[in-house]
Parts: sequence; structure tokens; C-alpha cells
Amino acid sequence: MGKRSIVILLLLLIFQVLLVAAQNVPASNQDFTALLSLTEFWENKPPSWVGTDPCAASWEGIECTNSRVTSIKLLSMNIKGSLTADIGTLSELETLDLSYNKGMSGRIPDEIGNLRKLKTLSLVGCDFSGPIPESTGALNQLTFLALNLNRFSGNIPRSFGNLSNVNWLDIADNQIEGPIPISDEEGPGLDMLHKAEHFHFGNNRLSGHVQDKLFSSNMILKHLLLDNNKLNGSIPDTMGSVKTLMVIRYDHNQMSGEVPSISDLTKLTDLNLGNNKLTGSLPDLTGLNDLASVDLSNNSFNSSGIPSWASNLPYLTTLSLEDTGLQGEIPNSLFKQSSIEAVKMKNNQLNGTLDVGNSSPNLELIDLENNMITDFAQENQQINFDIILAGNSICLETGADSKKYCSKSQSTSTYSTQPNSCTALPCSSNMVSSPKCICAIPYTGVLTSRAVGFSNIRNTSYFKDLENGLLSTFQSLYLPVDSVSLSNPVTDTATSYFSLDLQVFPSQSDRFNRTGVSSVSFVLANQIYKPPEFFSPYYFSSNDSYEFYAEEPSSSKTNTGIIAGAVASGVVVLVLSILVVIFAIRQKKRAKEFNPFANWEQNNNSGNAPQLKGARWFSFEELKKYSNNFCEANTIGAGGYGKVYQAVLPSGELVAVKRASQESMQGAVEFKTEIELLSRVHHKNLVGLVGFCYDKGEQMLVYEYIPNGTIMDSLSGKSGIRMNWIRRLKVAVGAARGLAYLHELADPPIIHRDIKSSNILLDDHLNAKVADFGLSKLNDSDRGHVTTQVKGTMGYMDPEYYMTQQLTEKSDVYSFGVTMLELVTARKPIEQGKFIVREVLRVLDRSKEFHNLHAIIDPTIKHEGNPKGLEKFVDLALKCVKDHAEERPTMAEVVKEIENIIQLAGFNPNAESASTSETYDNVSGGKIYHPYVDEDFAYSSVFPSVKVEPQ
Ligand SMILES: *[C@@H]1O[C@H](CO)[C@@H](O)[C@H](O)[C@H]1NC(C)=O
Ligand SMILES: *[C@@H]1O[C@H](CO)[C@@H](O)[C@H](O)[C@H]1NC(C)=O
Repeated sequence: MGKRSIVILLLLLIFQVLLVAAQNVPASNQDFTALLSLTEFWENKPPSWVGTDPCAASWEGIECTNSRVTSIKLLSMNIKGSLTADIGTLSELETLDLSYNKGMSGRIPDEIGNLRKLKTLSLVGCDFSGPIPESTGALNQLTFLALNLNRFSGNIPRSFGNLSNVNWLDIADNQIEGPIPISDEEGPGLDMLHKAEHFHFGNNRLSGHVQDKLFSSNMILKHLLLDNNKLNGSIPDTMGSVKTLMVIRYDHNQMSGEVPSISDLTKLTDLNLGNNKLTGSLPDLTGLNDLASVDLSNNSFNSSGIPSWASNLPYLTTLSLEDTGLQGEIPNSLFKQSSIEAVKMKNNQLNGTLDVGNSSPNLELIDLENNMITDFAQENQQINFDIILAGNSICLETGADSKKYCSKSQSTSTYSTQPNSCTALPCSSNMVSSPKCICAIPYTGVLTSRAVGFSNIRNTSYFKDLENGLLSTFQSLYLPVDSVSLSNPVTDTATSYFSLDLQVFPSQSDRFNRTGVSSVSFVLANQIYKPPEFFSPYYFSSNDSYEFYAEEPSSSKTNTGIIAGAVASGVVVLVLSILVVIFAIRQKKRAKEFNPFANWEQNNNSGNAPQLKGARWFSFEELKKYSNNFCEANTIGAGGYGKVYQAVLPSGELVAVKRASQESMQGAVEFKTEIELLSRVHHKNLVGLVGFCYDKGEQMLVYEYIPNGTIMDSLSGKSGIRMNWIRRLKVAVGAARGLAYLHELADPPIIHRDIKSSNILLDDHLNAKVADFGLSKLNDSDRGHVTTQVKGTMGYMDPEYYMTQQLTEKSDVYSFGVTMLELVTARKPIEQGKFIVREVLRVLDRSKEFHNLHAIIDPTIKHEGNPKGLEKFVDLALKCVKDHAEERPTMAEVVKEIENIIQLAGFNPNAESASTSETYDNVSGGKIYHPYVDEDFAYSSVFPSVKVEPQ
């Protein structure tokens, strides 16, 4: 056989294998090969990664939409490996979170910049190093960027200035150096980040001046954390114009010069300028009445008396003015402010008599070490907080050593969560007795506040607040969490960060599975848990990996096993790599080709409206004119999607125009879906679509204008519309009819997916109209359910849907049941950590009047005396929120039952509604909030790992 024929044979063989391999890898799985090569050398991949379709099977940590991988969440999985250039081929990725894998190391590849759809990039607490690539700046959809707690070095990329949607920018706790870039002729800078609320840059090696240009009144920064760097020069005047600022930390730098005026920063809760070289007089903080913590210690301020604001800030808990040139006597008023917990003024020249008479019961510490105090007025009285006067004249007298206040030491107190009325159990190794006294393996880590707003750690109410908030956040997301425990509060003296050990205990089993651990860490890494102000902002760092997962599938079934048969020779490996390339090219091509509006655009160009029944096409110019140039005064709402404007059509008809912001244009598919859905449904209890605009790169929806706000506004008293009992029944029946129409008469049937009180509007006649189909989903009637990405709003979401991801009409029934309970109680579904369904069930007693719900019924309807049918209404609501979908009624049954209740109450369920005026408390001429925007948009990106199946 000649050389040539061997080559041909080989080529034929390769071709054959290529064909076979191509058949084995379903076309729907173009991201499989990319994932395969990305994770080829990773250790500790989830054992559930079996087979060749990351979207269909139960691949933990992977979510897909339309058979493309859109989310990778693999937190705290003890994965070891690096992020290779392959990541760049997962072009539909919206979320990448590899936080708390301390074995993830190496550089971030430049290809990260190819992930143009990325919204969340979170690599907290790994071991990444090297510079952050400039290409990161290309991710202009990014809203959440957290790279803190790694070993990144180099400068802050200038290109960050292009992250025009970023809200959270955290690069703290790295080794980043050089200046904070601002825009100039050489390129962009951080002054351009007008949507950022968080600059968390602390604990790096940043240097140089902080430029005036960094700040402007266009910014909406809340947290400015520049602490623990090497910054110098003076604090820019311009900072005083960022009125949204709540936390400012410049401490532990080399800042000099005078402190500029910050008297407009009235939202400030924490100001820390300590440990710099600031000069001039102490800043005047008069009127900054939200301040809880002020630290100006260790600067070079001019000598002065204790400033008067120190005694007058109503929520001040902690005042640190160590070594700030203070002299004269200490006013007794300083200790009387009821919130004050700690006064730290060592190393000054304070003199005279210390008088702490009638001091605040919350005081924990007065530290006046090394001053010139000569007397102590309460010398012979019992004092229940720490006073330190060591190094003062009073402690230099003979015999003074024996006095408690002359010792430098503070009494020690600490906190740890105690068993909740039970006795802690002795547990075997790895196990810990939970606050509910169950032996289990907790997921553990450290929760750290970067600007703690309290000092008195003897006051357990702070810790209880944190515990309750954490637990209700986990539980409202249906995570398998039984309890949480906090312990060991410590303030790091070098950085002033305050930390607590956190243990999260599993429910259902004595240990978490992988998804449980990953979801709990996601809630903490991505700031889904919102702490009370006194702990904000925070970060979480995970302890050593959780290694005792429950219910692991056997690890021999990894995907290497499955494809092992195919990997028979080096040729196949070669073929697979060719496939990777082919798929990558195909993906790129697809991404380019995909444009849901392609067919509409043609229509627009030829001047014809697309053929959509009922919905009218508007040009951009038209809507611009009708809304008075989209002027501020016509704004009736704003949210993640963009703004909503009131507009008047030439016919005089009022409409609401929902205009997607330039940055949120990625929702093109959703936009088109919404138009198609809305133009197909017509019912008097559904908000009608008047038209839409897809022109000049704009996306707008034009709705009929519903003038009387949402039922949430009415219940909360915001809209001035009084809702008596019968009105509530009619609203309920109206909304129920709208929903029943969607479920049973719309073709194809539609599941709303986000029923809630803020999505039900009231028209002129106070008829209910169901709004916001943006999250709607066509029902696939063949299967009776749709498996899809979990979307919805916390508190309203069907737990069964959440667990199984199988969406049915009954999920809407559940949300509607919650809304019914809202109508009865006028409470939000989750209020102060309490879930309305559980609260009602807790006190329910059917043998008593109003089912014993007196304490939670809205007082407004109780005052009417006799809300007829209330018990039946509550019973119906509780049927709707049954755990199991099959036990819930259909919407048609709900409509019937409410109609019965209305009839029993002596009204006609079909009568036209009353005119508005009789139910108005005050006819407000002003604007009423309009709910066409997704105010809860953040939640949809928030729910932890849930699978999506190709439709
Ligand atoms: C305390 O110090 C101030 C300023 O240095 C001085 O004017 C005053 O006389 C001193 N008072 C006492 C009681 O020593
Ligand atoms: C403890 O802190 C809370 C605020 O979290 C405050 O309302 C209360 O007065 C404090 N003091 C005591 C003794 O509980």
C-alpha cells in the first residue's frame, strides 16, 4: 500500500469517526464541548455531570435557556483548577459564579471579554492572581462584579469605565495597585459608572491622588470603600455632591489636607476617615442625622474642643476621636444621647472632671486613656459599662492602681447563638448541635461587615436581627435551611472590619447536598441576603470546603466513563478537538444570525407595520412626540427594564409607554414574546396592549393607561383609594376572571408566573386588570406543564414549582391565594421575616369568629363591622396555597367560589363597579405609581440553581 492510500484511508477513518461523534453529541448541546474542555483538568467536578447534555440531565450548577448554557454556579464545591480560554466560547452565559473554590487559581483569560451577555461575574474567595484583564470592560451588560478576596495584582483596568450597567463593583482584599482611573483623552474611567452603587476597593495597594473628576452629582454611589490602601492627596470636594452616599471609608491611607464640606450627604450612616494625615479643623457633621458611626481618629487636626455635633446626632452609636487634638472638658451631654454605645477619645488633652451621670443605657465603653482628666464624678458609684482612664492625672495618684477605671483592659463579652428552648445534644464527629438541638453538619464561614454600625456586643438584639434575616432569606428561597447560628464577634483592629462566625444548618437531612451548599453560598456571595443597615455592606467568606455531601451519585459514573468507549485512540481526541472548533464557530455564527426581530425589521423598513392583530406599530418619532419628548415630568415609573412614560395619542387617548433603557436591550426575545402574547389576549380584566415600537434601536410597549394604580398601592394607602370589603371581593373576582381567561380561554393557554398585588391594577371603575406578561409562558398543553427557569417573586412563588421546576396553572393559583390573603390582611407576603401563609395558619381557629384572625385582619375592614364571607374567603385562599398543586382549585373554580361569596354578602357579582369618586379618600391630582416595570427584576436573576429543559 502506497503512502498516499494510507493517508486517504486515515482521512476516511477520521471522517467516519467524526460522523459518529457528531451523531453522539446532540446538536442541541453545542456548549457541551466547551464545558468539557473548560473543566477537563478540574478536580472535584460534581458527580452529577454525567452524559453529553448539560442542559437535559441534572447537571448541578448549570442552567440553560433554549439549549444554551446561560448560568454556571459552582460555589463552595472544592473545585481545583483554572479558568481557561474555553470560557469565552460559552457565549450565552449570563451568570458565572465560582466563588469559594480556594483551589481555583491562575489568571483570568482575556476571553472573558467574549461573554457579552454576562450579567453576574462572581469569583469571591478563590485564589486567582495576575492582573484583571482589560477585556473585562467589554462586559457592558454586567451588573454584579465581585472579584474580592483573591490575589489579583496590577492596576484597576481603565476599561471598567465602560461597565455602564454595573451596580456592584467589588475588588476589595486583593493586591491591586496604582491609581483609580478616571476618564480622559486616553480612555474611560470609573467616573463614568453612573449606575454603580458600590465601589468596594478596600484592602489593596491603590496609590496616588483620588481625582476630583471621580465624583459627580450624576452618580448614585451608596458605599465608597477606599480604606486600607496607599492613597494620598486630599479628599475631593466633589465627593460632597454624591448625595446618595451612605458609607464612606477613607481610613488607613495617607490622605492629607482639609476635609471638604460633606454637609449635603444627609444619608450618611458611617464616616470613617481615621488613620490619615488630615489637617485643618474637625469636619462639621451637624445635621447628618443618620450617622451611626464616626471615626476621625489618628489625624493631624487642629486642636479644638469636643464639637457640638458629637452630642446631637440622634442615632450615633460609636464615636472615635482618638488622637485628634481634642482639649478642654468633656460635656456630660455626650453620654446622654440614647443611642450612644462607645466613645473612644484616647490620646487627647481632655481635662477637668469626667461626669457620666444619667448616661444612655446602651453605653458600653468610654475610653479616655492618656488624657488629662483629674476627677471622676461617679467615682463611688456602680457603673455597668467600661471606663478607661489609665494615663490620666486621676490615675497617677498613689493607690489609684487598684481602681477599676485605671486599668487599660476592657471587660470581655462575646455572643453565640443559644439553643432555642431545647438542650444542646452531644454529637459525633463533624456534627454540631444546631440551635434547634439537632445534630447536623453545618455549612460554615465568616460574615464580615465593612462598616459596622454598632459597638455594644452585649446587646443581643443586633445578632437576633441578623439571624432572623438570614433564616428568612434562605427559607423564602425554599433552601433546605433549618437554622443559623452566629458566634465569636471580632473587630479586626488593623482594618476595622467586624466579623462573625456563621453556621448554616440543613433541614431534611443531617447534611447538605451539593446544590444546597452552592445555593446557600450564592445567597451570601451575591448579596441576595440584605442585612440590616448596621451590618451593611458585608461580605461572606467560606471556611474549608464542605466535604460530607448527602446523596452523591457514585463518582464512577462521570462523563469520562460515558465517553470512554469513544475515546479509543488519539484520533478520537483529535476529532473531539476539531469538534470543539466546529462548535465554537457554529455558535459564533448562530449568535450573529439570531435576531428575533429580523422579520419585523424588514416590515419597518418598507414602512409597513408587522402583522400583529390589534397591536399598533409606532415609530420612535411618534412616541417621542406623544410623551412630550420623554420628559421627566411624564415619568410614571422606573425599574430594571427602563422607564414608563405617560403619553397622549392624537386621539386624546392616554397611554403608558414602557421604554427599555439602552442598556437593557438584551431582552429582545422577552420583548417580542410580550408583544405577541399581549396582542393575542383580550379580556376586560387584563391590561390591553395598544401597540409597540421597535425602531431606531428602541424597544417600547404601549399599554392602555390604567389610572388608579395597583391593589398593593390601595392596600398600603399609597394611592388614596379606599378598599372596603366588598370592593376587595370584586377586585378578587375580577383578577381571578382575568387569570381564568389566560388559563382556559387564551389560545394557547398562558401561565402568568408573576401574580402579585403589584401586578393587579385598578381602572377608572376600580375594575381589576392583571398586568405584566413579561414573564409569561405559553403552556405546552401536550405535557400539561412547562419545565422552565424559575421566575417569580419571593413570597408569591409556588413551592412545588420551585422544587420541581414544573410550571402549571396551579402555580398561578398559589400566587393568587397569597394575593387573596393580602387583600384580607393588607400585609405584604413577607413582612419582617414573617410569611403570611404561615402566619395565618399559625393563628387559624375555625371555631372562632373570623377564624381567630383578628390580630392580622386589616383593621380597615374590621371597622366595617361585618365583612360578610370573610371566613369563606380565607378558606378559599388557604385552598389555593396548598402545598400540592393537585389539592388546589382551578382558577375557574376560584371565580365561582368568589362569586358565591359576593352573592352571600348580598351583592351582585356581575354588577358594574361603582364610580371612583365615592371610594377616593382624596382625589389626588398628582401621579400614581405605575407598575408596568419589573420592580422585582432583581429576583429573577437571583434564584439559585434551577434547571431548564429545552422546550
Ligand atoms: C482645660 O484645658 C483648657 C484648654 O487647654 C483650659 O483653657 C482650661 O483651663 C483647662 N481646665 C482645667 C480645669 O484645667
Ligand atoms: C439594643 O439595640 C436595639 C437596636 O438594635 C435598641 O433598640 C435597643 O434599645 C438596644 N438596647 C437594649 C438594652 O436592648
